[in-house]
Amino acid sequence: MVSEITKKSISTIHEYLKSFKLDSKEKKRNYSKKLNQKSTKIDYLEIDGKKIIRYTNEFWTSKQRQAASIHEISYRACFKAQLPRFFIQLLTKADEIVYDPFSGRGTTVIEAGIMGRRVISNDINPLSEILTAPRFFVPTIKEVEERLSEIKVDYRSEAEIDLSMFYHKKTEAEIVSLKNYLKERKEKNEEDMIDKWIRMVATNRLSGHSKGFFSVFTLPPNQAVSQERQKKINEKRDQVPEYREVKKLIVRKTKALQRNITKEEKVKLAEAGKTAKFLTSDARKTPEIEDEKVSLIVTSPPFLDVVQYSKDNWLRCWFNDIDVKEIEKKITITRKLDEWTKVMKEAFKEFYRIIKPGGYIAFEVGEVRKGKIKLDEEVVPIGIEIGFEPVGIVINLQEFTKTANIWGIENNEYGTNTNRIVLFEKK
Ligand SMILES: C[S@@+](CC[C@H](N)C(=O)[O-])C[C@H]1O[C@@H](n2cnc3c(N)ncnc32)[C@H](O)[C@@H]1O
Repeated sequence: MVSEITKKSISTIHEYLKSFKLDSKEKKRNYSKKLNQKSTKIDYLEIDGKKIIRYTNEFWTSKQRQAASIHEISYRACFKAQLPRFFIQLLTKADEIVYDPFSGRGTTVIEAGIMGRRVISNDINPLSEILTAPRFFVPTIKEVEERLSEIKVDYRSEAEIDLSMFYHKKTEAEIVSLKNYLKERKEKNEEDMIDKWIRMVATNRLSGHSKGFFSVFTLPPNQAVSQERQKKINEKRDQVPEYREVKKLIVRKTKALQRNITKEEKVKLAEAGKTAKFLTSDARKTPEIEDEKVSLIVTSPPFLDVVQYSKDNWLRCWFNDIDVKEIEKKITITRKLDEWTKVMKEAFKEFYRIIKPGGYIAFEVGEVRKGKIKLDEEVVPIGIEIGFEPVGIVINLQEFTKTANIWGIENNEYGTNTNRIVLFEKK
């Protein structure tokens, strides 16, 4: 476990990364064993005439100090909670503000909240707020059960679009009744945190590949397929949608989300929730955030390769009365590196404005096009141009190819769970 560093200095951070070793308990069960418990590999890159240090190690693992169950909301291209935890612990103190400009399912802000930091979450996709905000105000199981029992189901109700390939008629009526109830509560300004929790869980349960979801077997919940494609899946699997009890599944997921969250963590989340900001802006323009307020950004931007938002999210958007076409127009989808760089430059300008002197950005980019494009190396000059000081590149190795000699292989041979983070400081 990373101990709290209250007075952080650049040399403390370098020393920490250099001499990093996973807890010995963790080592037994993860890949570090294969590294003979080696310490961090260090090398240097020359980028735009600047020498950049690169640290490679297994800094966190998915097994390490199991992430809180409250994170278990699926979202396309989300990172594991251990990633923000590592940087929040290393670079911030209690009550400092942690911000994620491309927040997704809210992994950074939820983890920051659990750790007693204050938070700001932004994502141009309104589903992000729907999936994130309710987890700061965790209702009791009883509250959820009681609220659900008050919601009337009209078994004659049907969706205005054909959803028969996903849902049994009775399930569809229950979903539509819930959708209408939530819509009415929102329109009347009566939607409270319990309603929002139910909305979040239902959005997460709409479609998936197990009996815990409302739908017949389909793709995992962050990748809804089209109606036509679902018909084909049904034919191929010789399946018809069975009845699934919507309220029961909402209670079940509510319990699962809360299964290992402690009372203290709930209190911390609620504390963070009181001052939290949830924005739906373009990360390049967030006037809602004051100058020099943020201590740390931990984020991963939209990558180069296209995530099909309308395809992936149409069902979730339908349930929440969100116009998917509108989101698609706003969301950053860049296929070409120069377009991506241009957008990120503007975003970094905004980050510079809102980060306080002495604050940091941990900017995570994944493996793009099988490692052919190294976005981490593209990000370094962007940050420098805007005025940030690069601290270094941190590479977290996980799940390597089995046969590879870990210290001998090229970056692009690393497994898909490799995280590449560029760390900057605002002096
Ligand atoms: C890689 S995902 C982030 C996932 C997040 N780290 C998590 O754990 O869920 C990138 C996010 O950026 C959002 N996004 C795309 N363009 C944006 C923009 N211009 N401004 C703000 N958010 C944007 C997308 O909606 C998506 O949620």
